[in-house]
Parts: sequence; structure tokens; C-alpha cells
Amino acid sequence: MGVKEKPLVVISGTSSGIGLAMAREMLDRGNAVLGLVQDAAKDPVQHPGYRQEQVDLSDPDELQIRVTEILRGLDRPVRALVNNAGIGRMAFLEQLSVCDLRLVMDTNFLSHAIVTRAFLPLLKRQGRGDIVFIGSESALSGGRQGSVYCASKFAIRGFAQALREECGKSGVRVSLINPGAVRTPFFDDLNFEPGESEDNASAPEDVAAVLAMVLDARPGTVLDEINLSPLIQSWRRK
Ligand SMILES: NC(=O)c1ccc[n+]([C@@H]2O[C@H](COP(=O)([O-])OP(=O)(O)OC[C@H]3O[C@@H](n4cnc5c(N)ncnc54)[C@H](OP(=O)(O)O)[C@@H]3O)[C@@H](O)[C@H]2O)c1
Repeated sequence: MGVKEKPLVVISGTSSGIGLAMAREMLDRGNAVLGLVQDAAKDPVQHPGYRQEQVDLSDPDELQIRVTEILRGLDRPVRALVNNAGIGRMAFLEQLSVCDLRLVMDTNFLSHAIVTRAFLPLLKRQGRGDIVFIGSESALSGGRQGSVYCASKFAIRGFAQALREECGKSGVRVSLINPGAVRTPFFDDLNFEPGESEDNASAPEDVAAVLAMVLDARPGTVLDEINLSPLIQSWRRK
């Protein structure tokens, strides 16, 4: 199959971690991948089936304009939209600035709502396609020093559940994947990280394998929500 005929999977945040692993998995499975990235100068994927578009997900007004341009440039059906990019700002609430609160909600929630809203008419016209959100165990219960991060992930979960109800009749499936700790650069700027053992964190490839399972499900069924977590939960301070 030529690159032009391959179905397209659109993934945000493919520069590292889970997004990068998902991009590689989707390419290995014969898809083309469009990465929505913050800095187009980085391209760790390096594959003929991959291209990327620069977007700043923390800027909702600009994002609406960019995503409309990106949609105009598509040359094939979209098999799936994977809303993955995100940031962590972990601290007690009074240590977070209003700027931090806005940044986390805009990047982790509002951006995904805006991108999804833009892609939805296309997916509905196609009569099939998947919208997948990368949530978190923080979408399931709140924890200390996680107020705004948890809020952003709870928001994604509610959004995904409501959208799943809105989309079923159009053939568009909506799924949410909630990882626990995954060993990625997500922790680079945080003061904690998963314990050292390989049982203390999932690998980004584990999440990519779950994405493959979600997309491969029989079209008449939906994997609404999947939780995965390390075998042994253990965190350490840096
Ligand atoms: N790691 C975990 O333990 C874990 C657990 C549960 C859920 N998650 C979720 O998984 C998702 C991926 O995280 P990860 O662990 O793979 O971390 P990561 O390696 O830090 O990846 C985050 C990605 O988001 C992108 N991004 C951040 N801000 C952006 C912006 N303003 N515009 C566009 N892209 C932006 C980053 O781009 P740059 O490289 O350019 O900054 C990067 O590609 C996040 O939603 C995170 O909340 C992670």
C-alpha cells in the first residue's frame, strides 16, 4: 500500500513518551500518522508515513484557527484522533498560580475539546472513526498536590463519556485510556517519579498496545474506558 492510501491516525504530543510510542505503534501497523506537536523542529519519529503540524495546545484561540487549517490540508480519511498531549503541575493549590491553573486546564482539557470539536464533523461524515483520549488514574480519584491536574483529567473523562453518548449513532466511537504511572519525560520537571523497578511504571509501549486494541475492536463494539497501572505502585522523591 502506498503512503497515500494508508488510513490516517492523528495524535497530539508525539515528541516523546506515550505519544511517541503510539505514533510508532500505529506506523508499524500500516497507518499514516499526523503528529500535532508543540515544536516541529523536533522529529524523533523519522518515518516516511509520518508528518507533523505545529500547534500550541495551551493557546485556545490560536488553536481553533490552526486546527481548521490542518483539517483543510488532509488528503485521506481519518481512522482515529488520539488526544494525548498533556502537562503536570503538581503542588498544593496555594502554591499554584492562576496562570498554572489556566495552563493545565487549557493544555490538558480545553485543547482536546477544541481539536475534537473540529474533527467531529469529518468523522461523522465518514460514518466511522475513533476518538481516543489519554486520561489518567487521576481521572478516577483526586490526590494530594494534584488538584488542577486531577480536575483536568476528570474533565476529560466527563467529556469523553458525554461524547460517547452523542456519537454512537453516527458510527464514531469514543474511548478513554487511563494509565497509572508511565515512565516518560512527564516527570522531568516534577519532584517525584515512579520507583526504579520495572514493576513500578508501565512502559509507553504498554499504552500504545492498548490503543491498538481499542482501534482493532469490532466496529460494532466500543472499549469505552480502559485503566492500566503498574504491578506495584511505588513513588520516590527526587
Ligand atoms: N507519564 C505518566 O505517568 C502518565 C500517566 C497518566 C497519564 N499521562 C498522560 O499521558 C499524556 C502523555 O504524557 P507523557 O507521559 O507521554 O509525557 P511527555 O513525554 O512529557 O509527553 C507530553 C507531550 O505533550 C506535548 N505538549 C505539552 N504541552 C504542549 C502544548 N502546549 N502544545 C502541544 N503539545 C504539548 C509535549 O510536547 P513537548 O515535548 O514539545 O513539550 C509532549 O509531546 C499526558 O496527557 C499525560 O497527562 C501520563
